[in-house]
Amino acid sequence: MTEDATPERLLAGELWWKAGVVYQVYPRSFQDTNGDGVGDLKGVTARLDYLAWLGVDAVWLSPVCRSPMADYGYDVSDYCDIDPLFGTLADFDVLVAEAHRRRLRVIMDFVPNHTSEEHPWFREARASRDNPKRDWYIWRDPAPDGGPPNNWISNFGGPAWTLDPATGQYYYHAFLREQPDLNWRNPEVRRAMLDVLRFWLDRGVDGFRVDVIWHLMKDESLRDNPVNPDYRPGEPEINSLVQLHSADQPEVMQVIAEMRAVLEEYDARVLIGEIYLPLERLVAYYGVDLSGAHLPFNFQLIQTPWHAESVARLIADYEAALPAGGWPNWVLGNHDQPRIAARVGDAQARVAAVLLLTLRGTPTLYYGDEIGLSRVPIPPERLRDPWEHNEPGRGRDPERTPMQWAPGPQAGFSTVEPWLPLDPQAQTRNVEVLRDDPASILTLHRRLIALRRDHPALSIGAYRAISASGDVLVYERLHGDEVVRVALNFGHEACHVPVPGEAAWEVMLSSAGGRRGEGSQDGRFALAGDEALMLIRRAPAANG
Ligand code: GLC
Repeated sequence: MTEDATPERLLAGELWWKAGVVYQVYPRSFQDTNGDGVGDLKGVTARLDYLAWLGVDAVWLSPVCRSPMADYGYDVSDYCDIDPLFGTLADFDVLVAEAHRRRLRVIMDFVPNHTSEEHPWFREARASRDNPKRDWYIWRDPAPDGGPPNNWISNFGGPAWTLDPATGQYYYHAFLREQPDLNWRNPEVRRAMLDVLRFWLDRGVDGFRVDVIWHLMKDESLRDNPVNPDYRPGEPEINSLVQLHSADQPEVMQVIAEMRAVLEEYDARVLIGEIYLPLERLVAYYGVDLSGAHLPFNFQLIQTPWHAESVARLIADYEAALPAGGWPNWVLGNHDQPRIAARVGDAQARVAAVLLLTLRGTPTLYYGDEIGLSRVPIPPERLRDPWEHNEPGRGRDPERTPMQWAPGPQAGFSTVEPWLPLDPQAQTRNVEVLRDDPASILTLHRRLIALRRDHPALSIGAYRAISASGDVLVYERLHGDEVVRVALNFGHEACHVPVPGEAAWEVMLSSAGGRRGEGSQDGRFALAGDEALMLIRRAPAANG
């Protein structure tokens, strides 16, 4: 990136996914327009003005393809159609056109590891052992004792193999039995799935978030996974084995390079991969000579203890592990993880917002985090997530509840009782109430996004670690003459942050609101408990 690059120019061009902010929409829960209690595509379109106001650059839609919804859309029965619950292909086209009119990009969720058991391919595959589609999935004879072919466990608990009594073989599913894994070693599968990418690229989508991309290839001989000696009872059952042979196989890189090559047939599209792996494995997904995912999702902030020193170490380790030219990215939450406010509390959620939006690399913001949604209580009779049914306590419903737009019935999300309950605080925690409150968490997000857009140091600048001691993490972002110093207080105690004496600094933003323009006193700034400060080094006056 050249020194004269401005964020505006970058956002308009090739590098939009580097300079921009991605916003994840869980379509079931964004906006219902047809009164069935479930969000839909017309609802997303109706809320694009909000997203443009918030200032994000791209919208990632969790799956909207045709699906029996065993895993709420992550079980696709037709990759080239929209599920009627969400609308039609025509609605999708309108959404893309309206998004583009507002300079918002649209990122689709692509679910290539498995289909629904109701996908016509799987119906054919299970019809008989010699069906031409049989090898599109992973079938094996029973073990000599009649049990599953190996010891692999489903990510949702229980065996990862289901016996098909009619044909006498087991099929493999890394998730639900309703989600049979495709056989990516079969070239016909590859061709068909790469054509799915073209189908959506031709419709104008700007990229894909690829579901469980590290799972696509499995050990060719399906060897048993080793037992995990560090497994502690109470963890999800999947952790009882080391996923040595069931995922993260070297051959997956070739598949990803093929996906990437399809994207390269088009202009400026982005490939994001969902990857839950330790840092050193995660960065391998940039691929040889960056031929892999543009952005292997970095979930490390979700997995790292919320302490200044741990986060400082994480940032340093991640920056050091990135391959040359690999662009970083950061995620605080998604539809699979307890929300950030639930993990760190309301006060620290603001500090987290400043962290996410000032680190070097593309941030992905999860819908509702900008209004401070936390863990929404779900009464037992309303639990929906199949994982919860398999392994109670693991359910992801509390972070998938409807967006809260306004005071009044159903918080403006729907005209009927929504598919999941609203947060009990919906009457006060909603966009309409928070948008004009200068001290709200929503205003904080909007301001942070605007600063990122206005200051190249924040969007594309370099990162420099300054210090991490006690509860306070300090770093800088730099571009040209511009220096922004960020100080985050992970604790509740007030303290001070020193600034180098030879320059004049002033407050750009406080996570608590106000303080803008404030200067240092005796070479330092007061930092309240749970406060994050952004300081900018004032340019020396022209006359010296
Ligand atoms: C991914 C999705 C998750 C889904 C799973 C199976 O991890 O994010 O929601 O259940 O894949 O498709």
